[in-house]
Amino acid sequence: MVDVKSFGSAFGKAVDLITISNKNNMSFEVMSLGATIRSIKTPDKNGVVTDVVLGYETVEEYLEHDSYFGACIGRYANRIANSEITVNGVKYPLTVNENANQLHGGKVGFDKKIWEFTTTETSVTFKTVSEDMEEGFPGKLDVYVTYSLCDDNKLKLDYKVISDKDTVVNLTNHAYFNLSGHNSGKIDNHYLDMKASFYNPVNPADSIPTGEILSVAGTMFDLRKTTRLGDVIYGEGGSYDHNFVLDFVADGEPVANLYSADSGIFMKTYTNKPGLQIYCAGALKENIGKGGAVYNALHAICLETQFFPNSPNVRHFSSPFVKANEEYSYETVYEFGVK
Ligand code: BGC
Repeated sequence: MVDVKSFGSAFGKAVDLITISNKNNMSFEVMSLGATIRSIKTPDKNGVVTDVVLGYETVEEYLEHDSYFGACIGRYANRIANSEITVNGVKYPLTVNENANQLHGGKVGFDKKIWEFTTTETSVTFKTVSEDMEEGFPGKLDVYVTYSLCDDNKLKLDYKVISDKDTVVNLTNHAYFNLSGHNSGKIDNHYLDMKASFYNPVNPADSIPTGEILSVAGTMFDLRKTTRLGDVIYGEGGSYDHNFVLDFVADGEPVANLYSADSGIFMKTYTNKPGLQIYCAGALKENIGKGGAVYNALHAICLETQFFPNSPNVRHFSSPFVKANEEYSYETVYEFGVK
């Protein structure tokens, strides 16, 4: 079932909130500002419908905070070192919004756009256009993101892009998950396992990958076996804000499994993208969210499917380049249930 209502305005334009629900008491809300997932509600082990993503009550609060809660991130998710890319031998300086680098698409990323949309009973398709040279990127890019929910409890995110010039694209969703409920504090009692034998270390000063692809064996990054987050995120290395290099998985196999021992809710993540940024909201400052919930660092975990950070500048990272007039599509699925 689909429902559309007004959710205020931003930059002088109306913002709508779309709710899609299925027959299993599962639903999600997404707003046209940033094609932003505002809630995902799913029953816990006792049948209590639980909202498992952080979010805000109003559009104004989304604009006030810079945590990218639930937003579609583009044109390039995560960081580009020195805010510069080279396409076909031509250097393009990009807008700078973190140190000397660009983060999450620049000053006005896709999270700040008001997207057009169409709906069906089970889906909403957002469209936006990113103009040639917007935030410094070459190529006018048409972007489509479809969010759908059927009775299998799989929230599907389908991305489609087409550019009129060769360029780079790296889209993701920045939902902050807390499977115990968005208002239940730290994620310590979450369990995670991932199909990732390698990860990208970063320079701690600016979080730019060093370019190495290192084995996770014997490190805090070894999440190949189910690991309780509270046992690993308080060590010397701090919590996770790293890209994991996904192993090849068979069709239909998840790349990550997240589970809350408190609510019994699990989430399986599927994708055809090469990387997964695990971010435990270490930089989140105390703030008030939906229904007066108090959010703080380590209250959520983001599983951002993506190309590796700074991949336009690192030849041996999998390529985020797209060719002019060719259509590219990517898919991420978050599946929910209880055990
Ligand atoms: C990045 C973090 C950043 C956060 C919020 C994540 O995708 O990896 O470094 O703090 O987004 O901007």
